[in-house]
Amino acid sequence: MNSCLNRNIKYLLLLLAGTLLVMTFSGCSDSGSGNDTVSSKQTSLANIPGSLPHRSQFSQATLVKGEALYQKNCAVCHKADASGTPEWRIRDKNGKLLPPPLNGTAHTWHHSTTVLKDVIFNGTASTGGDMPAWQGKLTEQDVDAIISWLQTKWPEEIYNIWRDIEMRSMADE
Ligand code: HEC
Repeated sequence: MNSCLNRNIKYLLLLLAGTLLVMTFSGCSDSGSGNDTVSSKQTSLANIPGSLPHRSQFSQATLVKGEALYQKNCAVCHKADASGTPEWRIRDKNGKLLPPPLNGTAHTWHHSTTVLKDVIFNGTASTGGDMPAWQGKLTEQDVDAIISWLQTKWPEEIYNIWRDIEMRSMADE
């Protein structure tokens, strides 16, 4: 009789803890989207088949890895803070482009993940540019982590527009 009562109390406590947990999480996502200027658009896109995680959902492990790989391989040209070269729009005397910012202030965000990966893996030597090819040096997971870290640097509005376009193109495929 006593142990039965104990079990019931334990069950009730678990139920209570579960309810509190659900309340905590739903409360959390509510306040999160409150800061988001185009949250209504995102919510309406959430059910599109090509839906992809928001940058706020990127894991800390991915971002730490992405930043480390970026600093090791890319910062020498694109700068530690990904701000690139101020003169990135102008070709140098050899007709080459200088490393552009990757922090969302240039046109990196105009490109889909597929196009970004293509530039990173293949470089721009074939079109006379100085961007090295990373094929065979970085894995796809490495590059995904770098892109994720870079995206956390993009201004909120820019990132949301990019994500919107990316999800629409995924849904069209
Ligand atoms: C030796 C210098 C150098 C290094 C190192 C380098 N880049 Fe670049 N990167 C460039 C240059 C120069 C361009 C402009 C390319 C062009 O059009 O010729 C560029 C362009 C790019 C672009 C296209 C940007 C856009 O807006 O279209 C991306 C993305 C990029 N780099 C990512 C990376 C990443 C990620 C790394 C590290 C894994 C890296 N780069 C390392 C020089 C470099």
